[in-house]
Amino acid sequence: MLDTTNRPALPPEIARRRTFAIISHPDAGKTTLTEKFLLYGGAIQMAGQVRAKGEARRTRSDFMKMEQDRGISVSASAMSFDFGEFRFNLVDTPGHSDFSEDTYRTLTAVDAAVMVIDGAKGVESQTQKLFEVCRLRDLPILTFCNKMDRESRDTFEIIDEIQENLAIDVTPASWPIGVGRDFLGCYDMLRDRLELMDRADRNKVAESIKIEGLDDPKLEQHIPADLLEKLREEVEMARELLPALDPQAVLEGHMTPIWFGSAINSFGVQELMKGIGAYGPEPQPQSAEPRQISPDENKVAGFVFKVQANMDPKHRDRVAFVRLASGHFKRGMKLLHVRSKKPMAISNPVLFLAADRELAEEAWAGDIIGIPNHGQLRIGDTLTEGETLRVSGIPSFAPELLQGVRAGDPMKAKHLEKALMQFAEEGAAKVFKPNIGSGFIVGVVGALQFEVLASRIELEYGLPVRFEASQFTSARWVSGAKADVEKFVNANKQHISYDHDGDVVYMTRMQWDIDRVVRDHPELKLTATKEMM
Ligand code: G4P
Repeated sequence: MLDTTNRPALPPEIARRRTFAIISHPDAGKTTLTEKFLLYGGAIQMAGQVRAKGEARRTRSDFMKMEQDRGISVSASAMSFDFGEFRFNLVDTPGHSDFSEDTYRTLTAVDAAVMVIDGAKGVESQTQKLFEVCRLRDLPILTFCNKMDRESRDTFEIIDEIQENLAIDVTPASWPIGVGRDFLGCYDMLRDRLELMDRADRNKVAESIKIEGLDDPKLEQHIPADLLEKLREEVEMARELLPALDPQAVLEGHMTPIWFGSAINSFGVQELMKGIGAYGPEPQPQSAEPRQISPDENKVAGFVFKVQANMDPKHRDRVAFVRLASGHFKRGMKLLHVRSKKPMAISNPVLFLAADRELAEEAWAGDIIGIPNHGQLRIGDTLTEGETLRVSGIPSFAPELLQGVRAGDPMKAKHLEKALMQFAEEGAAKVFKPNIGSGFIVGVVGALQFEVLASRIELEYGLPVRFEASQFTSARWVSGAKADVEKFVNANKQHISYDHDGDVVYMTRMQWDIDRVVRDHPELKLTATKEMM
């Protein structure tokens, strides 16, 4: 548990930062909402740019052909923009149901999550899964119930469903007026305002009318009598039955405020953004060994939560995405790469301003910067101004699916090895080289990752590849005294592979084999994941 008590007030530059991700089920409206965030953040001039096809789109939040072809967001990226006094850092999570470890790791780099649900569908499977990950870290969650311009469920029903399925208190920050075609807008429960949606102009910000409570006669000028009566009844009931907003409970992850709106109609989005500013947390302490890192520390510390290769096919660069955990970073700084104990001059860091990558002159705790490198930086690495700190809690998952992979052209095996090693370092897959025989075995968490890999290997390396069933279904890392491991390797040659670091992995089809090794070799340790260090 992070200790957040007795923290001194943060320097204003850090306190104004809000670093968050959006979690949702595909199709709930994450892309549309992101686009409106960027629009109001002044990062794009016109709605439609994020979804734009072709070149315009490639320079933005996704870089992969597959994403364009299939319209799914596979890779995560980060975007920064200002809203009022706040600096928002939005870290994009892949939304497809068959996602990779990336998604989980992304959530280690944020301080809060915005949960988007579709007003007609409620809490869907992917939302539930991602929510559980957020809960593991007690991340504060703000909820946006989208598509209120369409037929949607009863407001109490939606709130009940969230409370029951996700076991979190829900407090309405706004209350919808009318449904579907009759949806007029919302009553702002926190500020006593009437927000009216403009259906004629999707990009127009809602008209906001200050009123004096629900008995204000001004309401009658804007809301038909039947809807007004219903609104009064429902708000009264909601105030009686549902908990009032408790900012502390929100910060602790026990309560989520919910805003109702329609991203495509730009409705409710600014209220949500104001909510992120007001109730979303400032940069939080980061757990690390041997001590936690506090954002207000003068010295810079940060950690790599994602590595992406070939972001620009013209340059074979890799970009390590670093979340700054403390301090004030300036371009050109020398930081200690704790794993290798070597200093690194960070001369060309990039900030992901939504429109494009841009050279970062400075950054503060809470920000995400990209550091181009040639493979030195790996997921889980910590960078500091000299202290030996290791950020903890970056998950590594056991590969649940294994497949063999071969180059379509056998002459290209070496190229394939290079491509696979790169993806292994990115954390996009686990790659094993069997002790006996040729070819590689690739391990992933979700089946879609095989497709993603095949598509990337072809696109980025010009290598058509074939994935095929592997004779193995499970992989376990073997550790112990050097002589013991060697002895074990020699006696089990058929089952041994090496991962991209050259570490020994025992592979099998049968759980029974694993149980036997565990029983017969107390001197060895078998693990389903390898620590990310
Ligand atoms: P995702 O990233 O969560 O997958 O969702 P995305 O924003 O792509 O939205 C999914 C679909 O829902 C899109 O329609 C989008 O236009 C629509 N949508 C988003 N917000 C709203 C809303 O507030 N009201 C309504 N009625 N629809 C909304 P599409 O037909 O799949 O794409 P497109 O043809 O509109 O581009």
